[in-house]
Amino acid sequence: MSRLSAPHVVNISDLRRLAQRRLPRVVFDYIDGGAEGEVTLRENSRAFERVTFRPRQCVAVPRGELRTHVLGTPIDLPFLLAPVGSSRMFFPRGEEVAARQAGAAGTIYVLSTLSGCRLEDVRAATSGPAWYQLYLVGGHDAARAGIARARAAGYSALVVTVDTPIAGLRERDVRNGMRELITGGVARVPFVGQFLARPRWLIDFWRDGGLMHFPNVIPPGQKPLPYLDVAAALEQTQVTWNDFGWIREVWGGPILVKGVLTAEDAQRAVNEGAAGIIVSNHGARQLDGVSATLRALPEVVKAVNGRADVLVDGGIRRGSDIIKALCLGARAVLVGRAYAYGLGAAGGPGIARAIDILRADLVRTLRLLGCPSIEDLDASYVNVPSDWTRAECRSSSLQTL
Ligand code: FNR
Repeated sequence: MSRLSAPHVVNISDLRRLAQRRLPRVVFDYIDGGAEGEVTLRENSRAFERVTFRPRQCVAVPRGELRTHVLGTPIDLPFLLAPVGSSRMFFPRGEEVAARQAGAAGTIYVLSTLSGCRLEDVRAATSGPAWYQLYLVGGHDAARAGIARARAAGYSALVVTVDTPIAGLRERDVRNGMRELITGGVARVPFVGQFLARPRWLIDFWRDGGLMHFPNVIPPGQKPLPYLDVAAALEQTQVTWNDFGWIREVWGGPILVKGVLTAEDAQRAVNEGAAGIIVSNHGARQLDGVSATLRALPEVVKAVNGRADVLVDGGIRRGSDIIKALCLGARAVLVGRAYAYGLGAAGGPGIARAIDILRADLVRTLRLLGCPSIEDLDASYVNVPSDWTRAECRSSSLQTL
């Protein structure tokens, strides 16, 4: 019996526990933590608990159909693997490992600009479609070069993340000495014990070449950007609506805007030509105190009004969470930590287990709901807390302005 199967691992929270056992504290908390008081981090999950199901009984559903399409691309599962920077710090060649698992499961892998593996190698690792997530780290010329490489390598959509004008304050990273560990010198000494306590991870880390760099961020005439404190990297990633003109021109393909939480921004993104909107608060790692994403979703769906595909992420730990998001109008969702815990726990098999858990949850939930296919889900399968309807009203009055 594998340590990744039942009864050891039954849900995503079990994978989180295994990741915590394998990873040094600074790495685990980098995945697990949120910004400031982690209020939004808790809310992202709580919002799913507040939405309840309205099942149809006495309906025969022989098998729950999970296939759907996003931006016209058919996929076998209604969830994608979200961009997760520095995945190579969790497991050797982490981004390639994750992309391979996404492809094997018939879904899309979204590669972060802040990857530790070359984007060409990640593209080659997956048999499925892949999207490239853009940060303007290293300046516009470095971004142009990254976009051109992503195009040439066969990435089929560009995801522009817009919620990082500066880095959120991730208090766990500060306390764990993230900055001191990276900048080196004697300042790191008080923090190195956490690595010695995780020898299995340490051996993997050294075998994989030690501290990664950012091979997809190459300012003209320079070498790839060395690994920075991620907070420092995000200081350089401001993107404004004015940037969409040149980004569209250089990319020349479909663009998704990731980090939208309001009807106003959703409408602006669609007007800038976005083919997709990702309702996201960056996994509650940026502005603490923003709404849970599930709560922001209906407002955005209403504002977009079918002009673009709306996706959502944040706090998804079960297949039933995914079903609730689809009922509230998302075409598909992204999962971040749910697979990152699997990667940190056990590499490829850990991600495969995370995907299996979510897939089984999805089929079981559909059948218990009496709904034959995820394409048939709609708001009639859920009850939404009454105080949520205010956002809906606000967006409908906006529509009529
Ligand atoms: C992220 N996220 C993220 N987003 C992005 O656009 N570029 C990035 O490089 C990263 N990096 C990153 C690292 C880690 C460790 C996490 C947990 C998240 C945000 C990610 O794409 C997604 O929006 C959230 O992870 C969704 O929330 P859950 O599923 O983690 O709760």
